[in-house]
Amino acid sequence: MCGIVGYTGSQSAIAPLIEGLRRLEYRGYDSAGIALGTPGKLFVQKRAGKLSNLESELIQTLPSATSGIGHTRWATHGGPTDRNAHPHLDNEGKLAVIHNGIIENYTELRAMLEARGHKFESETDTESVAHLLSDLRKTSHGDLAAAMREAVKSLRGSFTLVAIHADQPEVVVGVRRNSPLVVGLGVGENFMASDVAAFIDYTKRAVELGQNEVVTLTPTSVEITDLDGNAITPREYSITWDSSAAQKGGFSHFMLKEIFEQPKAVADTLIGRLSGSGDIVLDELTLSDNEIRELKKIVVLACGTAYHAGMIAKYAIEKWAKIPVEVELASEFRYRDPLIDSSTLVIAISQSGETMDTLMALRHAKANGARVLAVCNTNSSTIPREADAVLYTHAGPEIAVASTKAFLTQVIAVYLIGLHLARIRGVMDRSEVKAIFDELGELPAKIEQILETVEPLRALTRNYTNSTSVLFLGRNVGFPVALEGALKLKELAYMHAEGFAGGELKHGPIALIESGTPVIAILPAGHEHGLDEKMLSNIQEVKARGAHVIVIAQEGDEVPGAEHVIRIPKSLPLLQPILATVPLQVFAYEMAVARGNDVDQPRNLAKSVTVE
Ligand code: M6R
Repeated sequence: MCGIVGYTGSQSAIAPLIEGLRRLEYRGYDSAGIALGTPGKLFVQKRAGKLSNLESELIQTLPSATSGIGHTRWATHGGPTDRNAHPHLDNEGKLAVIHNGIIENYTELRAMLEARGHKFESETDTESVAHLLSDLRKTSHGDLAAAMREAVKSLRGSFTLVAIHADQPEVVVGVRRNSPLVVGLGVGENFMASDVAAFIDYTKRAVELGQNEVVTLTPTSVEITDLDGNAITPREYSITWDSSAAQKGGFSHFMLKEIFEQPKAVADTLIGRLSGSGDIVLDELTLSDNEIRELKKIVVLACGTAYHAGMIAKYAIEKWAKIPVEVELASEFRYRDPLIDSSTLVIAISQSGETMDTLMALRHAKANGARVLAVCNTNSSTIPREADAVLYTHAGPEIAVASTKAFLTQVIAVYLIGLHLARIRGVMDRSEVKAIFDELGELPAKIEQILETVEPLRALTRNYTNSTSVLFLGRNVGFPVALEGALKLKELAYMHAEGFAGGELKHGPIALIESGTPVIAILPAGHEHGLDEKMLSNIQEVKARGAHVIVIAQEGDEVPGAEHVIRIPKSLPLLQPILATVPLQVFAYEMAVARGNDVDQPRNLAKSVTVE
């Protein structure tokens, strides 16, 4: 939820810190701050609001410092004020700490530290760590890493912590528990950050840190230990994308760029997934064919947009592989007694791989004997590391808070899982699987076609800028698409938006329709169960009550009575979400722009939600 960056080297620390924070601002943007290390004294500057507020303060003369830490915050404990912004300091002002996560026992710690005479400046949980570290550093003879190891033993919760002390300003110490932290290895300089994006311009060599591992950086060394001080060999890997992926590339917003990257993201996620003999290649699954045949059910766990991808998984996997699929909000899963065991396959879907609700649900599933397959977009993040197997989507870095290309690739991933299971369980033969795979292969070009003809939709959207509410209707796989359209509009345009299953309208939601209410309806592809006709009736029902109806319909389908029809290419009915979602993303994007909202960093949100 917060972005963290640390630097120690031979050049001025300010550029890597500020540039790193800019790359991490998607994680939180309520306030930002830095601490620069100079011998005997820290220079600390922090400001409420976006990083740009801090930057305008920094125009004044800065000390020349070659180490420092920086933070961009998504507020949990204490409002988004200057005072609550990180870094937090000890009472001597010589030790600074930044934090991502929650210290659950901070009230007890604070009472204990205040009783010892420490004076607190903020309402945050983090500040108690600064005071605790300060005391422990003294009893550890000035060894900040040793102090960190001791401090962590008395902390409850999930956290990444990074600290620096003025007496040894070239030393930067970090630790992680259930929250991300990666190390970047440079030449004569080293980095640590919540995400490799922060230092991708400086190095492609990264080291992952495990749970409860403490890392100590100097310009020329990286030492990792467990909490007992035992040395751990660094696990190095190469970052495979370059910094252009984390830049806007001529688009006005990351979200727009990411919408336009969808054809490639979908194509990349499909590459190499069909063997010459016509089988789906999913070696990552690590389940034997026998284990797949013996599966009794699948449970999909996810949050937000990823949950909508999970809903689509249910339609596809049940239809193709004939295995029951339950879909559950990860945040609810472990608070009941889910019926899962070793015959259950749990699929945990997460773009970031760090969503705490999904991680906790995954752990609960594993503890109850289920096998867990992660569908994830972020290499080496926590969820894939803890799952039994991982299927990576290949969307590339998604920076905008609103998820777009990650969603489409998650849906592609669950289609692949459905086809693979169908084949192994003998429900579909090779030719049936290949026929659907070939249809999947045509989706990138079809998305491209939608994006080429999107201008009229952008113009149309602006007619509804002053609407107070927008409703979305879908049926079958169009229902999760309706939910996704509504979620995008809520988070970006700050408008009341709801998605409904068309058949539910008459059970209550139709009372929301007033004269002029925009309703976006997704007309089901094909005529299965007569659902297209049922949706056409739903359209008439809302029109009769004054709604303005915009219909997303595939080419050639008759849509009598709609004010506006947005055409998408024909596809198999189950694959329609991949195409029908795109205009809804554009609608939400355009609405946010027209209403003057911050598209890439909508209010109150953060890209990766690492608190429960
Ligand atoms: O990283 P994850 O996929 O686990 O994130 C889950 C949700 O927080 C995320 O999809 C969220 O709903 C998006 N902001 C929606 O656009």
